[in-house]
Amino acid sequence: MTPIKWFCSFLKKYRALILLGLFLTTLIAALSIVNPYLSGIIVDDVVLAGNYSPLPKLIACLLGVTLLTGILRFFYQLVFETASQGLLYDMRSKVYRKFLDEDFDFYNRKRTGDLMSRQTGDMDAIRHFMAYDIYAVYQNVLLFAFALLMLFTINAKLALCMLAVLPFTAIATFMQSKEVKPAFQRNRECFSSLNAFVQENISGNRVVKAFAKEAYEKEKFRKENDKFRDAQIKSSRVWMKYIPIFEILSYALTVVLMLYGGYMAVLEEITLGDLVRANGYLWMLNSPLRMAGWWVNDIQNFVTSVEKIYATYSEEPKVKPPVSEQSASVVQTSAASGKTAAERADNSTHKTAVKQADNSTLKAAVKQADNNTLKTAVKRAYNSTLKTAAEQISSRAAEIAGNIPRPGTSEATSGRPKDGTTSWPQTGDYAPALVHQHARLHGDIEFRNVSYSADDTDIVKNINFKVKAGQKIGIIGSTGSGKSTLMNLLCRFYDTTSGQVLVDGKDVRELDLYDLRDNIGMAMQDVFLFSDTIEGNIAYGRPECSFDQVKHAAIMADANHFISALPEGYDTIVGERGVGLSGGQKQRISLARALLKDPAVLILDDTTSAVDMETESYIQNQLKSVKQGCTVFIIAYRISSIRDADQILVMDNGHIIEHGTHDELVAANGYYANAFRNQYGEIPYELMNTAKKTLIR
Ligand SMILES: Nc1ncnc2c1ncn2[C@@H]1O[C@H](COP(=O)(O)OP(=O)(O)OP(=O)(O)O)[C@@H](O)[C@H]1O
Ligand SMILES: [Mg+2]
Repeated sequence: MTPIKWFCSFLKKYRALILLGLFLTTLIAALSIVNPYLSGIIVDDVVLAGNYSPLPKLIACLLGVTLLTGILRFFYQLVFETASQGLLYDMRSKVYRKFLDEDFDFYNRKRTGDLMSRQTGDMDAIRHFMAYDIYAVYQNVLLFAFALLMLFTINAKLALCMLAVLPFTAIATFMQSKEVKPAFQRNRECFSSLNAFVQENISGNRVVKAFAKEAYEKEKFRKENDKFRDAQIKSSRVWMKYIPIFEILSYALTVVLMLYGGYMAVLEEITLGDLVRANGYLWMLNSPLRMAGWWVNDIQNFVTSVEKIYATYSEEPKVKPPVSEQSASVVQTSAASGKTAAERADNSTHKTAVKQADNSTLKAAVKQADNNTLKTAVKRAYNSTLKTAAEQISSRAAEIAGNIPRPGTSEATSGRPKDGTTSWPQTGDYAPALVHQHARLHGDIEFRNVSYSADDTDIVKNINFKVKAGQKIGIIGSTGSGKSTLMNLLCRFYDTTSGQVLVDGKDVRELDLYDLRDNIGMAMQDVFLFSDTIEGNIAYGRPECSFDQVKHAAIMADANHFISALPEGYDTIVGERGVGLSGGQKQRISLARALLKDPAVLILDDTTSAVDMETESYIQNQLKSVKQGCTVFIIAYRISSIRDADQILVMDNGHIIEHGTHDELVAANGYYANAFRNQYGEIPYELMNTAKKTLIR
């Protein structure tokens, strides 16, 4: 599919609105020929004839046409604005959903700032084209055609004379468009680059400050800023050098009319009224010529933006969910329309979503959400204006009406009762309901000759091990040895280059991707917390859980103590990236989030590295009470975190170099035993298995 075809696929839904808009535009263009025509009559039949009796009627007509034009203009602009906002809504949603479907590899390669530009600046160029350029170009083409027609009815020779100017305009427009396109492309690239730079610097400002690199970053920013400014100036220069040409060409028309038309009027080949009338139509010829350059610019911008958005959109993730799974895993439990979730989502402009929900006018849906939710949502909507908050509530209301919880947001969790009852959201509370029914996995895992390489570099090689459901596996090894990569392969964040990762005897590539991930609770090495309440963050994977369940997960992760000490407790909003919490506190919230999922496989990647020994020991004890049958992977540097594991894998340079229990590995006197000695001191070998146990405990 070409980018433009892709864009056109969004137009279909708004065909009726666009046609209505174009119809109103046609009416306006047609009305535009009335007033110059009446002016000619006033000159010939009223002023020159000295007969003033029809004048009031003619003036009333002039005013009536002007008023009608104004009213129609209001409506067609409204129509195009509505269509453009609707189309943008659909496109933004679709692109955003695609972003969510993209894999780790995509995000490794893309800069956040660039992706943000696709959703903001590029989308706006499309909106501008839809809301303004479509009707402006169409209207001016009509005005131009009508003006020519009228000029031909006045006098063919005069019309032909004026037409002689047109080829020059066409050539100038063509040349301008050729020059402007690369200049505007460069503009966009520089803007995107500047955006990415600013985004990265704001996110990384702590590092900048810690290394006192402000001056260096300012200098780097200056260079990016210079590039953007220069690109802007260059494109403006290209653009502006054509303005005088268009101006000259449009004035040439006036000159032709005044000289040749005046001459014909003197010869009485046309009347004075005809000359006034022709002069009235002149702006209708002039305006499209003058504006042609602007539209070329806007259209170039539009095309560039569509191409850029489509290029990002059309990147297929390497890790693909099985084709059938979107529809198969989503079971619609209500007696609603029977449309699939994907169809529903695709059609969900705000209006349609509200319509789709049974009984749900917006009012009813908002009523269903308790006042508290509404208030909290308004209060907490991400720094947005009241209007944006209201929009979010509206769409939230529509979601509630469709019983599609938006997890991880204050709105999704603030309605959770604190009395321990599980009442968020119960199927049937709101209809229609969509319930994702994920198959529960057992938790047997096998890595069979697994290798993974990226950019022709081997990252893990020939990995073989088997884990029975319910076992605890410790992974230890030097930094960069491939520990996290093993877990990424298990979660299918990447696909193996060769070999198989099997869960319950099935290759993960054959498993439903969402089933697989829903069964895994992962506390990642890089903790990320959403700008939401602590409760919302913990409940991210299970928004339906009761407050007591959230609290229980926090107790297990030893987080309840510090959360309760905060003035707003579980309602404390943690800033972007969890600012305001210590590293260990963030880790514990992340651990609680993984534990609350009650997963078949729990992965703790360096999760207790930032907590003290006492807290770690408490967490270790709590983990023992994790539901029987849950397979637990613990990646850690501290021996104490993994010493009681059923199996310990020791990784080095992408290989498993040692494999066994704590006692076996200590006895093997290799890497692990060395790490043990480093952490617990030199102890005579014969005492290792007895003395160290007492020492550690
Ligand atoms: N997608 C990728 N593309 C290229 N290289 C990668 C990718 N993912 C990981 N690597 C590289 O693979 C190696 C293993 O990375 P991994 O994150 O698994 O190490 P680790 O054992 O978890 O290290 P640490 O203990 O520091 O967390 C590293 O050298 C890393 O740079
Ligand atoms: Mg790691």
